[in-house]
Amino acid sequence: MPVISFKGAAVEIEGETILHPVTLELTERRIGIIGSNGSGKSTFVRLINGLVEPTSGSVLYDGLSPTDDGKKVRREVGFVFADAESQIVMPLVADDVAFSLRRFRLPRAEVQRRVDAILRRFRLEDKAENSPHTLSGGEKQLLALAAVLVIEPATVIADEPTTLLDLRNRRRIVEELSTLDQQVIVVTHDLDILRGFDRVLCINDGRVAFDGGPDEAIESYLDLMDPTSRPL
Ligand SMILES: Nc1ncnc2c1ncn2[C@@H]1O[C@H](COP(=O)(O)OP(=O)(O)O)[C@@H](O)[C@H]1O
Ligand SMILES: [Mg+2]
Repeated sequence: MPVISFKGAAVEIEGETILHPVTLELTERRIGIIGSNGSGKSTFVRLINGLVEPTSGSVLYDGLSPTDDGKKVRREVGFVFADAESQIVMPLVADDVAFSLRRFRLPRAEVQRRVDAILRRFRLEDKAENSPHTLSGGEKQLLALAAVLVIEPATVIADEPTTLLDLRNRRRIVEELSTLDQQVIVVTHDLDILRGFDRVLCINDGRVAFDGGPDEAIESYLDLMDPTSRPL
């Protein structure tokens, strides 16, 4: 698995600390990030692919700096946002997936082969010539995942991939994420997803408040949310 190394990485915006210095190494295959809204989860994961720069300290992805070697890092790190709609760039489903491959300068037949294969995998092949905007919420999220996986990244980061979905589509995304061979980092409020994960970080108020197994992380999160409701 890739090694993602945070060394005193902190983020400050307009004098306000959004993320206090974090020092840790992520080497596991299934990593979850939980915590309340505004706690710094997105900021934390965005550091990994250079969408956010640390204002002090450093983040390295397999020895590469996401800010200085952004292109290389983003070939290895795919990022899926909660709002799949915002990731749609092309007027047709197949072209939207193919667009991810443009910078690899592959022969057209190879692009076609990869796009067809990933659309079949996500059962979107019948929608290949449709507008992405006509897809259901779940299908849009699958398309966003397909557009990321088609470049065969080593790591997939999904920032609240199920937040906007109904239960059925949520299950579908969870199933897809849990069967990926890649390193997967999921930010989520869907605590069910974390079952069987190797490591879960709970972020609270810009700090890593817990780092360990999923069961203990969930306990710690529930405690933070409402310490009074829990039996002593
Ligand atoms: N670009 C930005 N400018 C100003 N404030 C920001 C910016 N990005 C994030 N924040 C603030 O930092 C805090 C953490 O944000 P974020 O990492 O998005 O939290 P989460 O993903 O846990 O909801 C929030 O209070 C948010 O308003
Ligand atoms: Mg967020």
